[in-house]
Amino acid sequence: MKKILVLNGPNLNLLGLREPAQYGSTSLPDVEAMCRAAGQRLGYEVECFQSNWEGGLIDKIHEYGRLYKERLALGCVFNPGAFTHTSVALHDAIKGVDGLPVVECHISNVHAREPFRHHSFVSPAAAGIVIGFGVQGYVIALEALVRTQEQDTDQTLPR
Ligand code: DQA
Repeated sequence: MKKILVLNGPNLNLLGLREPAQYGSTSLPDVEAMCRAAGQRLGYEVECFQSNWEGGLIDKIHEYGRLYKERLALGCVFNPGAFTHTSVALHDAIKGVDGLPVVECHISNVHAREPFRHHSFVSPAAAGIVIGFGVQGYVIALEALVRTQEQDTDQTLPR
């Protein structure tokens, strides 16, 4: 069974406790269980990984870049947290693995928030973006990844 990585960046381990008005009351383990269940329904093994460290996220992207080339992974759903707005290194990691489709995902609608959240260094390297649908966005992103990246299922996208 091919793998999909659900990758979460800094402070997302605090989901459920952290600013619930912004991010809701669902914990990260519950979000990860939701993602694994969605993966099973879609026919994929979902691996979940969270780090507060930029390097940990970069290493995981490199690992999945290798798995993608070996056809053992389909892609990645990635909420980079605040590194979205600061990290050239994450942009370069996604570009650097050359091929791994990454769906950027944000729980809150970052464009309705502070101006410093309006720019993403990750978006130009992403295959697509899901923003503002709460934690359901992770499942939407998984479905979007599967629909668009499965061989020959989407004839509408350029290859
Ligand atoms: C976030 C939005 C970011 O601006 C913020 O720093 C986060 C969470 C979101 O999921 O809405 O940590 O990525």
